Amino acid sequence: MEGVEKVSEIKIQLSGINKSFPGVKALDNVNFSVRKGTVHCLCGENGAGKSTLMKIINGLYKPDTGQILIDGKAVEIRDPIQAREYGIAMIAQELNYVPEMSIEENIFLGRLPVNKFGKVDWKTVRSETIRFLEQEGLPYKPDQKLKTLTVSDIQMLEIIKAISYNAQIVIMDEPTSAITNREVEILFEKIEELKKRGVSIIYISHKMEEVFRIADDITVLRDGTVVDSMPAAQLTLDKVIALMVGREMTNVYPKEDVPIGEPIFEVEKLNCKGVFKNISFHVRRGEIVGFAGLMGAGRTETMRAIFGLDSYDSGEIRIHGKAVSIRRPSDAIANNLVMLSEDRRRYGIIPIRSVMENASISSLDKFFYGGRAHRKKEQEMVSEYFRRMNVKTPSLETLIQALSGGNQQKVLLAKWMLREPEVLILDEPTRGIDVGAKFEIYRLMTELVKEGKTIIMVSSELPELIGMCDRIYVMNKGIITGCLQKEEFSQETIMRFATGTQNVEVE
Ligand SMILES: Nc1ncnc2c1ncn2[C@@H]1O[C@H](COP(=O)(O)OP(=O)(O)OP(=O)(O)O)[C@@H](O)[C@H]1O
Ligand SMILES: [Mg+2]
Repeated sequence: MEGVEKVSEIKIQLSGINKSFPGVKALDNVNFSVRKGTVHCLCGENGAGKSTLMKIINGLYKPDTGQILIDGKAVEIRDPIQAREYGIAMIAQELNYVPEMSIEENIFLGRLPVNKFGKVDWKTVRSETIRFLEQEGLPYKPDQKLKTLTVSDIQMLEIIKAISYNAQIVIMDEPTSAITNREVEILFEKIEELKKRGVSIIYISHKMEEVFRIADDITVLRDGTVVDSMPAAQLTLDKVIALMVGREMTNVYPKEDVPIGEPIFEVEKLNCKGVFKNISFHVRRGEIVGFAGLMGAGRTETMRAIFGLDSYDSGEIRIHGKAVSIRRPSDAIANNLVMLSEDRRRYGIIPIRSVMENASISSLDKFFYGGRAHRKKEQEMVSEYFRRMNVKTPSLETLIQALSGGNQQKVLLAKWMLREPEVLILDEPTRGIDVGAKFEIYRLMTELVKEGKTIIMVSSELPELIGMCDRIYVMNKGIITGCLQKEEFSQETIMRFATGTQNVEVE
């Protein structure tokens, strides 16, 4: 190394940022700066204030006090349009999209080009959209409606949109929570490209391996304050986790062996043309059974059909050995079967209702009997589950949309726990959840199976499947390609079945 290492200049600097919401101090005297041409990762537990800080940079929230400098000049960012003028682009954590909108409308939202007659120049919109899609190798048509796309497709579009702004500061709030491994690699290549062009990237993720792969600098937030900020090279994974949760974390997977009983839930030869084929599996009392596979393997589709969200062509579902007919989710719930969906925006939360209502909505019969509502009981039970899962909310009356992403997920989980189901299908239950809270969810899962419940866990995170499951089914292209016993668990074996050398196609 020759002489002093060159420290790149500061692109954006925030100092003394304070921000309160009713009942919470989200940010407390935060200082944060990002160097030009670097990736700065922001870590912290759910509700630590990460998204709030980013929304301040993006002009969505106004700080109560504090200053922002861009290229050394004090600026006031009043709204996202102005943020864009300062070269800031943000990919939001919770994808908020209009299902009826087309891809081209989405990409050009808020900046539709107009011709000399003041009319929207749709020809340019179309040709530019086609150019973007081709450039990124995406197989969509510009007029395709967003509702026809998967979560991962929409996430990818958001990323492309931000890049297309030619922004100098790109904020990515958990961009990889719903995209495939291949897309993650594409994203990381994009990030490298952006860095080379001098763009600063602020990256938020609960996936620590990602953080250590791409971070130049890391800042850790806890309860709205910065606990540390330094070059990634000076930090280790354990150190960051300890800074985040405020204590050392050992034994990440609190799985205990419980007696395994009789089969509680069985699926036999479930078929849905073009989606999945010949799906047969069973789950026994006290078991946690995993479903591994690459994104698009058909795991979510299978679970949706079982839960009555989608229809299927043939096959049988048995609970306690008795065939049940599940045509809609209410049939499943009546049979003590519940499912936590992977896409909480689309199928999970009711944004403008309180956290309490969101939690109790599927268990109202438990709180309304003898001709009257038992509000106190409702409150007690909801509070109990919130306490067990460490849900961070100012009150039970707070609207769920005001909660941080991870805490919304915990409320949804509490909703199903409250139902006291016998069989739980959890589709990516820890997506977007911080390490500390993940541990709480795992512990809750362990408690549930101890009570004799059964759990089906779909997850894309192999370490958590290996750490928590008794058996793991692997799917590939719509069929079950393997069932692994505990002694056979390894990432390599799972991946072998998940990528499948046999290449069976669904008809
Ligand atoms: N619009 C809002 N109204 C009220 N409270 C809010 C609002 N936005 C955020 N908060 C609160 O501010 C705190 C910080 O939330 P924030 O979304 O910034 O957390 P986060 O670090 O991004 O968490 P996660 O990892 O779960 O996404 C939380 O207590 C949250 O409930
Ligand atoms: Mg957030």
